[in-house]
Amino acid sequence: MEQTWNSKTYAENARFVSDLGMAAVEWLAPQPGERILDLGCGDGALTVKLQDFGCEVIGVDSSPDFVNSAQSIGLNARLIDGHELHFNPEFDAVFSNAALHWMTQPDRVIDGVWQALKPGGRFVGEFGGAGNTAAIVSALGKALEKRGLDAATLNPWYFPTIEDYQTRLESRGFEVGRIALIPRPTPLPTGIRGWLTTFANPFTTALPSSERDVFLDEVTASLKPTLCDASGQWAADYVRLRFSASK
Ligand code: BEZ
Repeated sequence: MEQTWNSKTYAENARFVSDLGMAAVEWLAPQPGERILDLGCGDGALTVKLQDFGCEVIGVDSSPDFVNSAQSIGLNARLIDGHELHFNPEFDAVFSNAALHWMTQPDRVIDGVWQALKPGGRFVGEFGGAGNTAAIVSALGKALEKRGLDAATLNPWYFPTIEDYQTRLESRGFEVGRIALIPRPTPLPTGIRGWLTTFANPFTTALPSSERDVFLDEVTASLKPTLCDASGQWAADYVRLRFSASK
């Protein structure tokens, strides 16, 4: 099942994704006049920030809804899957926030990034690393297993270790400057239910629509002791893999 995106609910449930992406932007250190490719630009909220540094930015995303939203705020956004990057070596940097974990063939993505970069160009990004959302993945898995479904075959996410990702980058020729795995429990403005509605549809759509609410209630109840505090504030168990590499 494919993940589908809705810009409106995304803005309500997940604005923190672009807000928290500024830490990766700091590693990018964009310079005025640089030409930057924003890989998995989503609705463009962070792409705009790169433009504000005086950069010329092209955003790509595989979601038509996101690309429409990004274009509607004046961005140069294109409907391109990250596995299908066919740019000339024209970018000073390729940047990616919270998108690479949706791209399950990382070597194809890294190849496309390499081709898109000028010699000396930077590939800087942040995404889910090993252990990311482990409690959520486990709860989804158990609730699906109870219904006779194998979550492993539905799981759309690639959360690599440092060693895995660094090896892939270096095998393609990148020099890895910095790479780190950063636990970052992340407050959820609309609770775990908003998160599941926004991000977990590859799991929920495996069930008949009549069963989905009960399924989500059950996953929510099982996560409450771990991810919800006494005041009712939910936080997702995010672990970020942040890296900076050069061609
Ligand atoms: C993340 O940003 O780590 C993430 C978001 C949605 C699903 C899985 C991981």
